[in-house]
Amino acid sequence: MTLIGDAKTPGTPAYASGEVLEIRGGRSLKGQVDVRGAKNLATKAMVASLLGETPSILRDVPDIRDVEVVRSLLEVHGVHVTEGDEPGALVLDPADAKSANFEEIDAHAGSSRIPILFCGPLLHLLGQAFIPDLGGCRIGDRPIDFHLDALRKFGAIVDKQPSGIRLSAPEGLHGAHIELPYPSVGATEQVLLTAVRAKGVTELRNAAIEPEIMDLIGVLQKMGAIISYEPNRVIFIEGVDELRGYDHRSLFDRNEAASWACAALATDGDIFVKGARQYEMLTFLNVYRKVGGDFDITDEGIRFRRGKAPLKAITVETDVHPGFMTDWQQPLIVALTQANGQSVVHETVYENRLGFTRALVQMGADIVVHEDGLEGEYRRVPRRALEQAAVINGPTPLHGADIVVPDLRGGFSYVVAALAAEGTSRVSGVGIIRRGYEKFFEKLTALGADFDVVG
Ligand code: EPU
Repeated sequence: MTLIGDAKTPGTPAYASGEVLEIRGGRSLKGQVDVRGAKNLATKAMVASLLGETPSILRDVPDIRDVEVVRSLLEVHGVHVTEGDEPGALVLDPADAKSANFEEIDAHAGSSRIPILFCGPLLHLLGQAFIPDLGGCRIGDRPIDFHLDALRKFGAIVDKQPSGIRLSAPEGLHGAHIELPYPSVGATEQVLLTAVRAKGVTELRNAAIEPEIMDLIGVLQKMGAIISYEPNRVIFIEGVDELRGYDHRSLFDRNEAASWACAALATDGDIFVKGARQYEMLTFLNVYRKVGGDFDITDEGIRFRRGKAPLKAITVETDVHPGFMTDWQQPLIVALTQANGQSVVHETVYENRLGFTRALVQMGADIVVHEDGLEGEYRRVPRRALEQAAVINGPTPLHGADIVVPDLRGGFSYVVAALAAEGTSRVSGVGIIRRGYEKFFEKLTALGADFDVVG
């Protein structure tokens, strides 16, 4: 095995490659990590800049691959993107926005699903849009039917072609009445980004209300949009003729904060997550406490660690906000392998987000996945046809293994499992993790992880 560079010195060639980690486990992660803007807000706010007549400034933009993808997609559409007046600030100037050709879009879209959100703004700006085949994490089919149905209701013509989807709106877009079959985050963002400049009023029912959506509404209101949020997942948007640029500091990344919190739990560590806030993590914090985790909340962030008693088994159902997010279950499951008793995790949002547990079993965990879900006792979340359940019996010691990262959150969880395990693990494909976790290797190093980048 060749050792490339020194993983403990940020900036060495090891960080440039960074697909394979050799991790020596059995160490508690201790120290501080800073979280910046949320991946799932910053990328959408960047797209919103296309709607402004003047430049926008987005602050606390995380240095992650998904941001790079959206930046280059904006650039191929003629948006000038430059560094702002403080670290992490981007200035996005859409003055020269233009159509891009298929090859350019396809080359820059990479594995991201964000291009679908360019549709509304590009239809307003240019009367047409092209969306290549969409990537993203391999966590189920992840269809885009809600997006396309909504765009048709706004008056767009949708033409599906072998290489992607061509959209046009020769007569402009008008307000619409839309009821989503499920409170999809992406489809809600699609409606918001399209309705703000459509003629007339849009009523969106069964909308997603995640904090990142509320922050995007905040961004659009700064731009001049009129959006009211009513009870029962109803959002009204009054279209306006013109929007201006915004100056906005991104909401913190609560998925990253929850990931490090679970890393502290799984490795019996103690991690202060600077920038984490209580309000957006209430549901997570309740579950964390129930499983036996402890936390201190300050104005600067949240300190996470185990409580005095051993970890306890729990039952969790993933759900849309304000429920327990699907993105939190993977790192939590690693911690649950160390809890006393039988835990059950019902995954109700995606149809294929428990496959990552196979590698944990390889490492010694006792996890059985029920592909069609489990009835169980009292269920807060209505049963969905696509759901699955994982039954975890613990505590089980974990041992090192050779594992390959399946997706973003699963990948983070593998690294945490390897850190919690006795012995050495080789984790391949960690590049995916950097799609959504800023300065990942540097943060691991700062927390005392013992690893090398070996490929
Ligand atoms: N769905 C459809 N049709 C659609 C759209 C969604 O059937 O047209 C279904 C999906 O298949 C899924 C459910 O609706 O079963 C929820 O999907 P949603 O649209 O809410 O998810 P998304 O917008 O594609 C975002 C985040 C995900 C996060 C989910 C849920 C971004 C870029 N992605 O995805 O984040 O898990 O919301 O909160 O914002 C991640 O960060 O690792 C990640 C996957």
